[in-house]
Amino acid sequence: MIEDAAQSLGSFYPDGRHIGRAGAIGSFSFSAPKIISTGQGGALITDDDALADKLRRLKDFGRAGGGTDVHDSIGYNFKFTELQACVGLAQMRQLPARIKRKKEIWCMYEEGLAGIHGIQLFAHELTLCTPWFIDCRADSREALCAHLKAHGIGTRTMYPPIHQQNAYDLPGHYPVAEGIGRNGLWLPSMIQLSNEQIYYITNVVKNFYS
Ligand SMILES: Cc1ncc(COP(=O)(O)O)c(C=O)c1O
Repeated sequence: MIEDAAQSLGSFYPDGRHIGRAGAIGSFSFSAPKIISTGQGGALITDDDALADKLRRLKDFGRAGGGTDVHDSIGYNFKFTELQACVGLAQMRQLPARIKRKKEIWCMYEEGLAGIHGIQLFAHELTLCTPWFIDCRADSREALCAHLKAHGIGTRTMYPPIHQQNAYDLPGHYPVAEGIGRNGLWLPSMIQLSNEQIYYITNVVKNFYS
């Protein structure tokens, strides 16, 4: 099993294992908005040396190593540059502080949005989960986004349901996915947000719904 743990750096299963350790391979994303970002790219983890070797070849044209041009297997160019690795490693050293701040940010939103009819944060168990994005369900989502934008606050609407994407366009009715596609919203989540900015954002949301 390859476990997609793209968003879960800093999050754990109840049995204490880090998410991404349940399968033979775990994959993590380091794309722009993640807790650790190298611009694009990510990392795969495995305890299986033979699999690790196979993966190294797969990302490097199927070669046994750099500097040779003998291709033992089919591979691609999925190489991650050393420059990106330097950026990622420097951030990785700050991971505990980043996790702490992500949780603080989420708690400040939870407090600031509490009791506002019309918007609910997705629930998180913070002892296990590091919320890297501020996920919520918002009534009148488009109007809220416009109101926030008019106050200089960016947002991102959540993924449209996959069966309705033109690339798939599949029949069927999936109310949970459709509901999230309709009302799911990400509020500003970057780690650099100051407490003052979070107060400002939650107040602008409050004004909208009142
Ligand atoms: C669950 C999940 N899988 C895969 C990806 C894709 O990661 P990447 O953009 O690094 O390819 C993402 C990105 O957010 C994700 O959330």
